Amino acid sequence: MIEEQKHDTIVVLDFGGQYSHLITRRVRECNVYSELLPYNMPAEKILEKDPKGIILSGGPASVYEKDAPVCDPKVFDLKVPVLGICYGLQLMAHMLGGKVSRARKREFGKTELEILDNSDLFFGINRKKIFCWMSHSDIVETLPQGFETIARTENCPHAAVRSKDRKLFGVQFHPEVVHTEFGKQIIENFVIRICKCRPTWKMENFVDEAIRKIRSVIKDDRAICALSGGVDSSTAAVLVHKAIGDRLVCVFINHGLLRKNEPEEVLKIFRDKLKMNVIYVDASERFLKRLKGVTDPEEKRKIIGEEFIKVFTEVAEKVGRPKWLVQGTLYPDVIESARTESPASRIKTHHNVGGLPPWTPFKILEPLRMLYKDEVRKLARVLGLPEEIVKRHPFPGPGLAVRIIGEVTPEKLRICREASYIVEEELKKAGLYDKVWQAFAIVGDDKAVGILGDQRALGHIVIVRIVTSLDGMTADWARIPYEVLERISNRITNEVEGVTWVAYAISSKPPATIEPC
Ligand code: XMP
Repeated sequence: MIEEQKHDTIVVLDFGGQYSHLITRRVRECNVYSELLPYNMPAEKILEKDPKGIILSGGPASVYEKDAPVCDPKVFDLKVPVLGICYGLQLMAHMLGGKVSRARKREFGKTELEILDNSDLFFGINRKKIFCWMSHSDIVETLPQGFETIARTENCPHAAVRSKDRKLFGVQFHPEVVHTEFGKQIIENFVIRICKCRPTWKMENFVDEAIRKIRSVIKDDRAICALSGGVDSSTAAVLVHKAIGDRLVCVFINHGLLRKNEPEEVLKIFRDKLKMNVIYVDASERFLKRLKGVTDPEEKRKIIGEEFIKVFTEVAEKVGRPKWLVQGTLYPDVIESARTESPASRIKTHHNVGGLPPWTPFKILEPLRMLYKDEVRKLARVLGLPEEIVKRHPFPGPGLAVRIIGEVTPEKLRICREASYIVEEELKKAGLYDKVWQAFAIVGDDKAVGILGDQRALGHIVIVRIVTSLDGMTADWARIPYEVLERISNRITNEVEGVTWVAYAISSKPPATIEPC
């Protein structure tokens, strides 16, 4: 949606690799603008972006497979440097007359790489051997004419190659993942040294240009935004508010499944502090009534999603249905929703609750669709959003309903809300809140005997879930110090009525998920 025009651009063609999105991110970390495009984009269209360089991503296919994804062959003749990564290298070699074959031994994970030439791609790396991250079954066996080898591994004789004249480069390993030593330097060498990009792209530029773009798209119309208090929707809303002021209406729907004090805090920030136009709808009763007696997790999500759309649409009609709908979609969501139509779309199922149906009457504005979570956090700070919002843990659209196992009852809701508050508060006190991905309490219908007052009685079991994760796709249980767990447990049993036991969830994802429902 928001495109940077003035800055030098690196185009990444997406062949569906797990790390494709990371490449664009790494390029932006060099302060150069980067965009991920479908692998089959015609060369003429790519040229419209005026790229200073092109990167071909990795991908799951083998170049010899029927229907293996190929790029427009003209990509290699655009007179801009090209870097092929993994499948990208193999494809480049294959299309330019080299030979790719099955490796005798597949290489996965950390692999020692011997650097043979450090004059360009490996510039500044003064070690003969570094560890790189490999993930492949095929290798380049014979190089195309005019190519030479600049690094190798034990099982991969051409682990990095180049054609100096044509400024074509390829690496079999993944410089974009953190496990590759000097990976950032390798990307920077390509982007800054080889493509000669000027490192001018910064978050502040993003804001100015995004505002200009939003104004030119929305013109005199109005926009509406479902505000959740999460960092994505908040940042999108503040950015659009900066662009069009009170022609943006924010709708904050309380579905009765929010965290403790959440409605008050969100309103205080957006209405009082940021002076934004926020309509608050307390629809708790409607949601809770529909959830009565429902125990199946998917059914709960479905009901909440449907009801959310109903409430939101009603409010939109009441305010004269603005033409534009602002959404805080980020790049990983874009990939999940297959908008680049790349094979990467199949990797992750996504959580669409709170999303709008395809027949939505709105025109969609997604001002963050180029960014990743941590980039959004940077942007949020540049926009002056308070730290409570910037650092907030992700919170699922269906709220506490996915943290209550079985039926959502007022009692379980109270326990989940109060106990989660204690978990978060104790982590903040211990300085651990910002070090973990999510932290909350779970409650179900299981009960255990304890002493309530002076008597033995049955009470609820609360499960504390604290996980570390990079992106929510995989997660590990956080190794929280025993003293902190002890405080959490004591406080929950003392302060939350009806709880006798506290357990700590020590399952990672996979096989478990982060949320229990
Ligand atoms: P799971 O439970 O699948 O969660 O391991 C991965 C991440 O996604 C969040 N999550 C959701 N977010 N609607 C959302 O907006 C949902 O229905 C939903 N379910 C899970 C979860 O909190 C975690 O960060």
